[in-house]
Amino acid sequence: MAELQEVQITEEKPLLPGQTPEAAKTHSVETPYGSVTFTVYGTPKPKRPAILTYHDVGLNYKSCFQPLFQFGDMQEIIQNFVRVHVDAPGMEEGAPVFPLGYQYPSLDQLADMIPCVLQYLNFSTVIGVGVGAGAYILSRYALNHPDTVEGLVLINIDPNAKGWMDWAAHKLTGLTSSIPEMILGHLFSQEELSGNSELIQKYRNIITHAPNLDNIELYWNSYNNRRDLNFERGGDITLKCPVMLVVGDQAPHEDAVMADSGGQPQLTQPGKLTEAFKYFLQGMGYMASSCMTRLSRSRTASLTSAASIDGNRSRSRTLSQSSESGTLSSGPPGHTMEVSC
Ligand code: BEZ
Repeated sequence: MAELQEVQITEEKPLLPGQTPEAAKTHSVETPYGSVTFTVYGTPKPKRPAILTYHDVGLNYKSCFQPLFQFGDMQEIIQNFVRVHVDAPGMEEGAPVFPLGYQYPSLDQLADMIPCVLQYLNFSTVIGVGVGAGAYILSRYALNHPDTVEGLVLINIDPNAKGWMDWAAHKLTGLTSSIPEMILGHLFSQEELSGNSELIQKYRNIITHAPNLDNIELYWNSYNNRRDLNFERGGDITLKCPVMLVVGDQAPHEDAVMADSGGQPQLTQPGKLTEAFKYFLQGMGYMASSCMTRLSRSRTASLTSAASIDGNRSRSRTLSQSSESGTLSSGPPGHTMEVSC
């Protein structure tokens, strides 16, 4: 009998004819660590934070976030917020290649560039949405500037520095793999890569033929040289804001999920992520439940709340239910909500 194979289907729901994307404006500002480019969509809304995104290695804000922010159901959320999409230096479209010997900022320095962006825009608080390296950068920023971060959505974060085993594995892989293949191995699971779906072909093509591949390698090196975020359960080093942790369920086991899940749920599961984001914002008091579409109320979600994120990756799962009853909420302020996509 033929074996049944699990096939990953990318959720698609394009904008409706009336839902045209809002105009974007791209800016650059000088910071102590070089200039940084960011793109603003929408207009500031009184008494609301901006949504600020930071993308992963090998991507820029568009290749990382466009499928999520242009997902049909996402529009009812984002129309209520101005969005600031930061491109890591040298990752913006048309970026020139840095000269040989250019000292690329560390992830901590990339986090230290964010206050210049907010100052330039005169924005006081944000809800951060970061993927991989971007999730690390936004967490570092939130640890340093807790009063300016109202919430964080962290997709596939690895809060730890590479251990010596990881380094050995990385060095060995480097002997046989190209930089694009290593980065693809960071972004996607082996199962996804060997499945070679249209999505994988698209991102393999983008990364392999990137005119700024040398810059991408510099961001990749900074990511691999990150230090521990040193979250401490109940200690001084904790995120003070509500956190929505998102992990790809492509990972073979839970420890690896937290470490480097592979899979880009913001590309493949924008619907599920949109729904979870809506509950998260609702928990923060920003989305009235009446705003929720019938569709999102009747979809089945699998959401789990957790007590904290820390270096030991311990999580207490307390909630896993269907949203059919419309009772799912992301819990009290200061909470962490965990979503597996
Ligand atoms: C936005 O509406 O925020 C957006 C649009 C296109 C790409 C990324 C974000």
